[in-house]
Amino acid sequence: MTFKITDAVTWVGKRDWELKRFHGEEYSTHKGSTYNAYLVRDQKTALIETVWAPFAGEFIEQLKAEVDLKTIDYVIANHAESDHSGGLPELMKLIPGVPVYCTANGVKSLRGHYHQDWNFQVVKTGQRLSLGSRELIFIEAPMLHWPDTMFDYLTGEDILFSNDAFGHHLATEGMYNDLADPCALEAECIKYYANILTPFSALVKRKIEEFASLNLPLKMICPSHGTIWRENPMQIVSKYLEWSNNYQENQVSIVYDTMWNGTRRMAEAMAEGLAQSDPALRVRLFNAGKADKNDIVTEIFRSKAVLVGSPTINKGYLSSLGGLLEMVRGLGFKNKKAAAFGAYGWSGESVKLLTAQLKECGFEVPAASDAGIRAMWNPDADALEQCRAFGLEFGKSL
Ligand code: FEO
Repeated sequence: MTFKITDAVTWVGKRDWELKRFHGEEYSTHKGSTYNAYLVRDQKTALIETVWAPFAGEFIEQLKAEVDLKTIDYVIANHAESDHSGGLPELMKLIPGVPVYCTANGVKSLRGHYHQDWNFQVVKTGQRLSLGSRELIFIEAPMLHWPDTMFDYLTGEDILFSNDAFGHHLATEGMYNDLADPCALEAECIKYYANILTPFSALVKRKIEEFASLNLPLKMICPSHGTIWRENPMQIVSKYLEWSNNYQENQVSIVYDTMWNGTRRMAEAMAEGLAQSDPALRVRLFNAGKADKNDIVTEIFRSKAVLVGSPTINKGYLSSLGGLLEMVRGLGFKNKKAAAFGAYGWSGESVKLLTAQLKECGFEVPAASDAGIRAMWNPDADALEQCRAFGLEFGKSL
């Protein structure tokens, strides 16, 4: 159901309460999501974004109930990823010829996805589109998080349409940040940043500074996922500045997988040693074979260091760690330390291989921890004491 945000702006998107996976199977969305589209009505009418393709039919029906489609003068496509552009093919069949405003990279992406030659109008940062008494100002935002991404600012209403930036995968009926469960909102925002925006942190900072330099008043931020930032919209901007600056809390995450509980027991002993190193340190353990990988990535993002453990299997380490570390490598976390550990029976390669992979991921492995720690078979009391000592020394080195 649509709702009015201001007299001129109406939300015409889709709440997806059932969504559990996003980007294929790559990203977990425990609390669903929304695909936000906005209708701006002045003397001219502009539609900003559509919805994910499975909901295109519902979207069109809802839009028809809200507005005569023939009165839509402009379509604004801020980003070609199909969770926002998926409604375009069906919509453009009904309003062929209506100009589609996007960046030059947006044309490439939209053509690449849909193989249609819509009436593309390429825009650049600072270009304005008059709607009558209000204007849309376009702001290119390449690599936040695709090359085609752009934001729009609506004068007169002082609203920034920020596309994916400042978004979060959280389905809510009350679509404003002040109506959302604050814990769920914070958790989904940091997860979204950690898992999607981390590689582009330098650009996040630069884009925020660029927007600030325009000195535009800001009443609301309308992202393309999740709630609208109505109450103190600068709070999420401040968070982004914090997160984009090599973020870390006083936390160490221990991420492991285990076959017969030897590596788990090592992890738990190291957690005890870490906790002794600093009474204020938050230590969290995750079995990578059981915990959600995106939740683990979020906890690594929060951490100043990570201990990663696996027993040796087939001269390597367990596949849950392999998949997770590939995600972490791509995200490129900075300013975090790491070390490896694991139980083994005979050849025992896992720790050496994990250490090499942690370095490949960009973690600093302190010289004293470079060899990691191994325990043969099921760790006995002496081996567990060595793990405690390793955790203590590693903790002191942070
Ligand atoms: Fe929400 Fe990059 O799509």
